[in-house]
Amino acid sequence: MPTTTSPVLRMRRSGIRALMELALADPLAIHLEIGEPDVPTPDHVLAAAARDAAAGHTGYTSSTGSAELRTALAEKVRRVNGLDVGPADVMATHGAMHGLAIAFAATLGPGDEVLLPDPEFPNWRMAVTATGAEAVTYPTRAEHGFVPRLEDIAAAITPRTKVLLVCSPNNPTGAVYPAALLESVVALARQHDLWVFSDECYEAITYDAPHVSPAQFDTDGRVLTFFSFSKTYAMTGWRLGYVVSPDPALTELLAQVAEATVGCPSSVSQRAALAALRGTQEPVSTAVASYRGRRDDAVALLAAAGVPCSVPDGAFYLLVDVSAVSRDGNTFALRLLREHHVAVSPGEAFGPGAAGMVRVSLASAPDDLRVGLQRLVTLVARWDEPAGRAVEAGAQLR
Ligand SMILES: Cc1ncc(COP(=O)(O)O)c(C=O)c1O
Repeated sequence: MPTTTSPVLRMRRSGIRALMELALADPLAIHLEIGEPDVPTPDHVLAAAARDAAAGHTGYTSSTGSAELRTALAEKVRRVNGLDVGPADVMATHGAMHGLAIAFAATLGPGDEVLLPDPEFPNWRMAVTATGAEAVTYPTRAEHGFVPRLEDIAAAITPRTKVLLVCSPNNPTGAVYPAALLESVVALARQHDLWVFSDECYEAITYDAPHVSPAQFDTDGRVLTFFSFSKTYAMTGWRLGYVVSPDPALTELLAQVAEATVGCPSSVSQRAALAALRGTQEPVSTAVASYRGRRDDAVALLAAAGVPCSVPDGAFYLLVDVSAVSRDGNTFALRLLREHHVAVSPGEAFGPGAAGMVRVSLASAPDDLRVGLQRLVTLVARWDEPAGRAVEAGAQLR
């Protein structure tokens, strides 16, 4: 029975995954393509999860998460993010991505449009496509430090736009948006009656600029904020995130879609999240200090070789501009993997705004990062020498 009508058929495969799968087949590969902390989940979180599972925290919870977790999350959001919220405004989700997917499902229908930054995190577009809506982008440019300009966002709004998504600190650009811009973005959304979805997965990972939640500027209940335990606490596989919703009717819809999809977030992961929130925050500050050191070393290594790159203010990615030798980041990434056994994500996987670039994860082990970047620099320097093996330009990544 051929499937012909599902909007999912229009979903494009993520170019990050495509490269990753090729890299997994290479036992010698150095992995700089994955956005995942190199450290394990903190010991006290592991211990609490094991203890609580043994004590019987293994059943279903409310589809929005346990009351105990939502109370703790609301307290964190008040204290850290400065938002005036209670437990009823917060919903635990199966990772931030599930929070985003159910929020797209609850706010969009066929023909609607969502504004995403370009370069983009590809999973947003995939989740939007699944609803039958269209993803449209607004540019963010290297010459502006990848911080969007309000006029570029305004120019992308049409009568069909329903949701305006912002992501700061940003994946893949590392940009951290200033408060004044975020305030203007919320005002623009108010003017055009749009939802604002603020993806704040990397809120804890900033270097030179403070993280600001745009929901601070929300005066009439239109900003949804998406948080995650994945990057902050090295808990990617636990699948735990949360969304702060300003609208009780929408929160109810989100709960229904969650009920129909995951039922509830993993109860053991909810206990782990409680332990992460309540326990020492030292592993977080240690990790951020380490990412900062890796960023500085990586930027210095590339600068010494004359290879341009973004200097991220937050998150843990570097966009390396290889367009001087290869206009196509796919081709570059393939040659780097084939000839030098280093996996990076092709910029094109993030949209035209990152064409001719590759994304390097600073969350990779420091030695891998150093060796991987040295090999990248070598490939740039020797680009015109004949390749060891023929590479079909980009074809296998699409
Ligand atoms: C911008 C952005 N949003 C969402 C996610 C997904 O986070 P989670 O693991 O909580 O689903 C990621 C993961 O890489 C991300 O980079």
